[in-house]
Amino acid sequence: MAEEKRKAIGILFDRVRWEEKELGRQLEIRGLSYDMIDAKSQVLPLDDSEFSSRPMKVLGRCVSFYRGLNLASVYEAHGIETINSSKVLDVCGNKLLTSQLLAKKGVPTPKTMVAFSADSAMEAIEEVGFPCVMKPIVGSWGRQVVPIRDRETAEAMIEMREQQSDSMQTIFYIQEMIQRPPRDIRCIAVGEEIVAAVYRYASPESWKTNVALGGHSEPCKVTPELEETVLKTARAIGAGILGVDLMERPSSELVVHEVNGTVEFRGAQSATDYSIAGRIVDYVVSDRSSVEERRQVVDI
Ligand SMILES: Nc1ncnc2c1ncn2[C@@H]1O[C@H](COP(=O)(O)OP(=O)(O)O)[C@@H](O)[C@H]1O
Ligand SMILES: [Mg+2]
Repeated sequence: MAEEKRKAIGILFDRVRWEEKELGRQLEIRGLSYDMIDAKSQVLPLDDSEFSSRPMKVLGRCVSFYRGLNLASVYEAHGIETINSSKVLDVCGNKLLTSQLLAKKGVPTPKTMVAFSADSAMEAIEEVGFPCVMKPIVGSWGRQVVPIRDRETAEAMIEMREQQSDSMQTIFYIQEMIQRPPRDIRCIAVGEEIVAAVYRYASPESWKTNVALGGHSEPCKVTPELEETVLKTARAIGAGILGVDLMERPSSELVVHEVNGTVEFRGAQSATDYSIAGRIVDYVVSDRSSVEERRQVVDI
């Protein structure tokens, strides 16, 4: 029977990083059958013909946001559960949707304004005030995240973005600059459980704390405030495997600035004794993922 040949899990990837190898290793340790699915070689029909032989659940690990999101939508349409769901991926991959949802659900988050043309961008910047931060609404690894400390820089950035042919560049996402220490906090939430928390310190060469830019991780204690904020975020976004990023205000209040839907956890692994990939695998194969997913409704 075709059903018997179905693998338990498919890991959907477009680049095999340390994380994907570790997830595969943890599946093997548990004796679970799995397929490594190269997203770049997928040619999928949109009718039902082929899907009964595909894995029962798909763990989405694509680096490319649009590739991962759209593939998740196709798998879901054919009744294959994808973790994270396309709904969660959609919100996490778009900083505007994330901030909107966090604000609506009462999760502390930096003051943010959005404007939709070069002409109105300065108004948004003035409303937020200097210094502020300009970001693309879709992006990662700190790319094009720019601190704006004065009007001249603001004008130059608006002009630069206006010249680009990409229409996303004229969606202006402007955020108050948090006067944080040279670090932020990355928390990995698996379902409604925090499995790791680390401080990410900026490298001496960068204002940004991204590990991709040379930042390094150190263990962070999960205080009741941190736990409450992260779990509130997970409930707001929709349960799944989330990288919740927070900054500390000078008052030490925590604010959530980003939620990653395809989280890198190599840095965070150094802060824990157990395997984060193991916790993720246990969640994916359990029924918790489907039950929690159904309970969540992402409404903006
Ligand atoms: N509002 C802000 N105030 C201070 N620092 C910020 C702010 N927003 C972002 N940063 C810094 O820039 C880094 C990259 O921004 P982020 O919003 O996380 O985008 P990306 O998705 O590219 O990682 C953050 O990790 C943080 O160190
Ligand atoms: Mg980030």
